[in-house]
Amino acid sequence: MKTVLVTGGAGFIGSHTCVELLNAGYGIVVMDNFVNSSMQAVDAVKTITGKDFPFYECDMCDEAAFEKVFAENQIDAVIHFAGLKAVGESVQKPLEYYSNNLTGTFVLLRLMRKYGVHELVFSSSATVYGSHNPVPFREDMPIGGTTNPYGTTKVMIERILQDVCIADKEMRVALLRYFNPIGAHPSGLIGENPNGIPNNLMPYVARVAAGILPCLSVYGNDYDTPDGTGVRDYIHVCDLATGHIKALEKLDSIPGGCEIYNLGTGKGTSVLELVHAFEKACGHAVNYKIAPRRAGDIATCYADVSKAKNELGWVAKYDIDDMCRDSWNFIQHTKQN
Ligand code: WQD
Repeated sequence: MKTVLVTGGAGFIGSHTCVELLNAGYGIVVMDNFVNSSMQAVDAVKTITGKDFPFYECDMCDEAAFEKVFAENQIDAVIHFAGLKAVGESVQKPLEYYSNNLTGTFVLLRLMRKYGVHELVFSSSATVYGSHNPVPFREDMPIGGTTNPYGTTKVMIERILQDVCIADKEMRVALLRYFNPIGAHPSGLIGENPNGIPNNLMPYVARVAAGILPCLSVYGNDYDTPDGTGVRDYIHVCDLATGHIKALEKLDSIPGGCEIYNLGTGKGTSVLELVHAFEKACGHAVNYKIAPRRAGDIATCYADVSKAKNELGWVAKYDIDDMCRDSWNFIQHTKQN
């Protein structure tokens, strides 16, 4: 049984991927510094799967602490989620974002080299496509022109990993470009529960529907889209998680190199379409108002998903109604606890 180190494994996507890894028969070792997560998610993964695993509360930039994870476990592969990821915050705190996300990756790569670990799946983002590419975004399109430091760290780390694969022929890397992950595990025990006021659309909508927040601001209805509001490719977090399993399997079948895959549905959904889908899921209106555009937003973003389908045998199976149903179920669970 292969053992996978999951950095940031207590986070939204990390915790859902831990569930799928355990369900697929992998062993896992999880590390997280809880900057945007808590032990509750780690315990929930154990409850959902009925399986135990080593957990380390550790900052990836603390090389001595991080090395213990490698020294005390036989790691065969790594899925690297750990990183700061709030678009707006990154504009306010560029030094923290570049320092944390890049330094943490450098430490990880040094430890992988020292302990002979050659397989890595990296959590990248559709943000790397910037605003100059035509939709649907394809993996062979030029990247860059990002509108925030968060996205720029993803461009930089993708480039670093590609260069590492050129230098070390044994390295096998998958760069997974997520579109908009939303939804929650059907158990309602794990989901997207950001600290403070959510930056992202779905957790905000869910909190308005649950009566936690009073009103959603729809950032602009004058975009060149069918209803004027922003269009995104929302993907169920459980679909995203299974995409990581498929990427690990792919890495087993190649001698070396760096492969890039979009993880999306290939479908665009507008802000108002998502709001109305959520109203269907929760059974009542979601209060919203039209507000000015948000700086840095692009009008439309959705994926060409043919490469992941053809090379990984992976296709997202949940639709926007499934995503809203599971997000509504999750926030009702979190309100009760
Ligand atoms: C979606 C749409 C907003 C909030 C970013 C990152 C991406 C990933 C997900 C980390 C846009 C509109 C939003 C609100 C709104 N990050 N919106 N009111 O910006 O597409 O993607 O987050 O994993 O890498 O780029 O996601 O959910 O913030 O916005 O109207 O209160 O919802 O304008 O059209 P985004 P988002």
